[in-house]
Amino acid sequence: MALLTWDDSLSVKIPEVDEEHKVLVKLINELHTAMKEGRGREGTEHILNELVTYTQTHFTHEEAFLTRNNYPQLAPHKLMHQTFVEKVVAFQKEFTAGKLVLSIQLVQFLSDWIVEHVKKADMQYGKMLAGKKY
Ligand SMILES: [Fe+2]
Ligand SMILES: [Fe+2]
Repeated sequence: MALLTWDDSLSVKIPEVDEEHKVLVKLINELHTAMKEGRGREGTEHILNELVTYTQTHFTHEEAFLTRNNYPQLAPHKLMHQTFVEKVVAFQKEFTAGKLVLSIQLVQFLSDWIVEHVKKADMQYGKMLAGKKY
């Protein structure tokens, strides 16, 4: 069973944003599956790398959208993204160096952060900017 399931409670009512968030959900689920199946470093590293890269891509798109629309909460929103990226990149480095094993706690942390962020912070701009061009 997938760790995370997309449903309407995650929709910010901006289709392009929802599509990007769905990719993040998919990658977290892939990471969870790889970990559960005990695929080891070789079988999980590329998924973690893809998740880190895609997270940064998504944040860049989202921040550009918020900037274009003069979103008043842009600075704190960017800071949340930045703090998360720093943490995840630190995990990635330790994992690649063989100092960290992928655990359910780590995958759960990634999953919880994404869900919480989408439901609170992203939803907040969604209410204000629904219908705007992404
Ligand atoms: Fe965000
Ligand atoms: Fe987002």
